[in-house]
Amino acid sequence: MTDKDANQMWGGRFAEGPDAIMEAINASIGFDKRMAAQDIAGSRAHAAMLAAQGIISDTDAQTIREGLLTILSEIEGGQFAFSTALEDIHMNVEARLKEIVGEPAGRLHTGRSRNDQVATDFRLWVRDQADAAIGGLEALMKALLLQAEAGADWVMPGFTHLQTAQPVTWGHHMMAYVEMFSRDLSRFRDARVRMNESPLGAAALAGTSFPLDRQMTAEALGFDRPCANSLDAVSDRDFALEFLAAASICAMHLSRFAEELVIWSSAQFRFVVLSDRFSTGSSIMPQKKNPDAAELIRAKIGRIFGANVALMTVMKGLPLAYSKDMQEDKEQVFDAADNLMLALAAMTGMVGDMSANKPALEAAAGAGFSTATDLADWLVRVLGMPFRDAHHVTGSLVAKAEAKGCDLPELSLSEMQEVEPQITEAVYDVLGVHNSVASRMSYGGTAPERVREQVAAWTQKLG
Ligand code: ARG
Repeated sequence: MTDKDANQMWGGRFAEGPDAIMEAINASIGFDKRMAAQDIAGSRAHAAMLAAQGIISDTDAQTIREGLLTILSEIEGGQFAFSTALEDIHMNVEARLKEIVGEPAGRLHTGRSRNDQVATDFRLWVRDQADAAIGGLEALMKALLLQAEAGADWVMPGFTHLQTAQPVTWGHHMMAYVEMFSRDLSRFRDARVRMNESPLGAAALAGTSFPLDRQMTAEALGFDRPCANSLDAVSDRDFALEFLAAASICAMHLSRFAEELVIWSSAQFRFVVLSDRFSTGSSIMPQKKNPDAAELIRAKIGRIFGANVALMTVMKGLPLAYSKDMQEDKEQVFDAADNLMLALAAMTGMVGDMSANKPALEAAAGAGFSTATDLADWLVRVLGMPFRDAHHVTGSLVAKAEAKGCDLPELSLSEMQEVEPQITEAVYDVLGVHNSVASRMSYGGTAPERVREQVAAWTQKLG
């Protein structure tokens, strides 16, 4: 077939082939070939069903199904000649089937349209990616759990406004991300449940007069059931949008963690040492070790959220049912999925490899009057002061330490008593960062004991 020929699939109505520019804007084969395996699985299921329903013969179905397997191996082996003139993966596969098996190939498209075909292929593809994201998140959570377990009682500064707030444990900080990533995981799981209905058999938009068994194809493709409305089945892409929404939120979490790693690995913080495997050097400054992987993960949200906005915008205002606009759905999702998986893998590698600088964390934990709240709480608990008064006394003590250029535990008892005469030696117990974190025993708090409970619970859940 040459570019000038009328299209062999709908050539009956068209005398001439498309203009080259029309062909370029119309073709999707350049990217939708990524759905070849899904397309062939869908066609094989459809052929088997057509035969089971007596719509085509068993011999034809068998021939078609074998021919499709041959095509799959040609594609996987890189021997398949994709043609832009044939527009997309669906017509490329069907045309090749005709070359291989001849006449029966023409029976495959009975009771089917490219509209339900592409909707099916794309759902299968996105479903695989949801599974991959779930697997990637589990691996990342396991890497975080190992960090949390090792450092359940390592102290570090907890921040608000990126100003030292109260000491927390390294384990607690790691477990905060386990919680975030577990919600990302459950978003992918939820999306997967909703997307797992089969559009196949909805045909162009209205269903078909052939006695299809949509339950059978749905089951063969691992769907829970067929979509209940043919117009909806071929025209919504909310399953892809849900994937992108979940991916965007996940990328946002990854970006926040990546930002912390960038800050923590700086010479000013030195909280962590990232492995050489996930860092690069500078071509001009020999002393440098740059956290490039973390920076790139931090940036991935840009394209992933961009894909979400782009597809939402493509879908907005489209009348039912199918419009060619929807061909613009795939590249965004492919790119977002590729980059999400890459970011998850890179983050998992980095977390697995990184080593926390325990002494630096501990030194920073005590700096910046981080135990001021513990002191105020002590005044309330031991001296029976109202919290507001205790807050005021503590503020004066902080000011005194600041003027002296030292931290709270370095004030002498007499210096403290100048501010509040009732203070006793026992106050020094709560001014230590280890005592501070150990006292935060409330459920969800940073005490090492609580962290270890969470680590154990998650380790069990993740198996
Ligand atoms: N390549 C098309 C897409 O990705 C397949 C569906 C074409 N359907 C149609 N009615 N032209 O959307």
